[in-house]
Amino acid sequence: MRLSEARVVLTGASGGIGLAIAGALCAQGAKVLAVARHGAPLAHLLELYPQHLCWVAADLTFLADRRKVLVAAQAIGGINLLINAAGVNHFAMLEQLDDSEINAMLAVNISAPICLTKTLLPLLKEAESAMVVNVGSTYGSIGYAGFASYCATKFALRGFSEALRRELADTRVSVLYVAPRATRTSMNSPEAQALNDALKVNVDDPQTVANAVIHAIASDRRDLYLGWPERFFVRLNSLLPNLVDRGVRKQLPLIRRLSQKPDNENPQP
Ligand SMILES: NC(=O)c1ccc[n+]([C@@H]2O[C@H](COP(=O)([O-])OP(=O)(O)OC[C@H]3O[C@@H](n4cnc5c(N)ncnc54)[C@H](OP(=O)(O)O)[C@@H]3O)[C@@H](O)[C@H]2O)c1
Repeated sequence: MRLSEARVVLTGASGGIGLAIAGALCAQGAKVLAVARHGAPLAHLLELYPQHLCWVAADLTFLADRRKVLVAAQAIGGINLLINAAGVNHFAMLEQLDDSEINAMLAVNISAPICLTKTLLPLLKEAESAMVVNVGSTYGSIGYAGFASYCATKFALRGFSEALRRELADTRVSVLYVAPRATRTSMNSPEAQALNDALKVNVDDPQTVANAVIHAIASDRRDLYLGWPERFFVRLNSLLPNLVDRGVRKQLPLIRRLSQKPDNENPQP
């Protein structure tokens, strides 16, 4: 896809990775409809690219707000690119999570992108060629302790991407699944960052992720897994999961300790 001809709905546009993608797309001449509940983080880009960027306030877990996104996309003359980048994460052992936190992850990370894609597909199909980009995670291929519900949503998003790609194979709409590794954004709580530090996990800059994503879009790729050795671990996990079981088992005491919430933050049953 030619980025200068892209007309984009971008969710998660106020977040670390989304903001970097929005800036990179505008710099390439794309027209971007930024979707997020909060507009303040976008203020600088809105000023820098008044002809290329606009913002629609939407909570993607609400049907009415997803319809608002459709209306705004029609108002800019249709779209040929949908990037589902909104997401939430809570680093905690499953029993420490509130049901509301689990439901929020399911709603934002998997229900919302599926429903928004469905809503916008008729518009995407009108374009000469179009693409849906789903931002997953390394945790969409490797189940990791302390992230069970988050992993469930990202595994689901990967499955959705694969099935949708096949469902749309005889249309002009393609599907790109992107799996970033750990990235330096506010999604990672101090506890999650402490885990990354303790395990010496590579953490990418959001700009690096954004550049890789827009390169993958421009190259019409079907998937993008960021980082080495993460790509290797994804393969290892699918071929020899017992080995990964043993590796994560050794890390469990550390994961359990760092994921503890202070007493006053314990969830209600
Ligand atoms: N950071 C990482 O380490 C990492 C690694 C792998 C994959 N990822 C994935 O990359 C994507 C972007 O993550 P990030 O690190 O940029 O996260 P982030 O900085 O926390 O940003 C999250 C974005 O999601 C939006 N969002 C959350 N709830 C929403 C809702 N109910 N309705 C609409 N928008 C909502 C937020 O916008 P508002 O709050 O303004 O609504 C924000 O724009 C996510 O899908 C994440 O799972 C991140």
